Amino acid sequence: MKFFIDSADVKEIRAAHAMGCVDGVTTNPSLLAKVGRGLEETIREICSIVDGPVSAEAVSMTAEELVKEGRTLAKLHPNVVVKVPMGVEGMKATKALTAEGIKTNVTLVFSPNQALLCAKAGATFVSPFVGRLDDVSEDGMEMVRQVLTIYRAYGYKTQVLVASVRNPVHVLRAAMMGADVATIPLSVIQQLAQHPLTDAGIKKFLADWEKVPKPK
Ligand code: G3P
Repeated sequence: MKFFIDSADVKEIRAAHAMGCVDGVTTNPSLLAKVGRGLEETIREICSIVDGPVSAEAVSMTAEELVKEGRTLAKLHPNVVVKVPMGVEGMKATKALTAEGIKTNVTLVFSPNQALLCAKAGATFVSPFVGRLDDVSEDGMEMVRQVLTIYRAYGYKTQVLVASVRNPVHVLRAAMMGADVATIPLSVIQQLAQHPLTDAGIKKFLADWEKVPKPK
């Protein structure tokens, strides 16, 4: 499973990249607002750090405007993937951008039928938002399982990018299901490295190392 980092903060992206686990990056308007930097300069800097797909979100409301915005975003760097919002206009834009060879990531996907439409439109990635479904008492990862079942049944090429990941169990379940990608916040990536028995083991080894005779 590929790991993308879900962040527009270049410090966070550099930190995760240094761990050797970053295959790509996803951003959105909320993440950009959090760091208070413009989209273009941020995307360019991210592309200089990570050699992999970098999602930049288009925010127009019509297919025509989404396509125009998508073309501009795609010119920023060859690794840019245009994030398109789910919906009728988003599907039209996805079809048109795909026809032009521009990669797309359909965002804000909350049902298997929406994901089915994304595959039909030729999206490169589909982003089911698992945490936000959990927030409204639905099982987000169960939706991912349904999407994977449908895609495998018909051999759709659209990659399933598990988004709105909030905890290590989301990552584990995504990997067990064979999802193509999980986009993960830095805090959760760091949690993946943790285990209390690892900490206890390190403490014990360090304590015992003090007792080992050293050369004078
Ligand atoms: O990848 C989408 C993600 O940024 C949304 O996450 O936690 O705001 O639902 P969240």
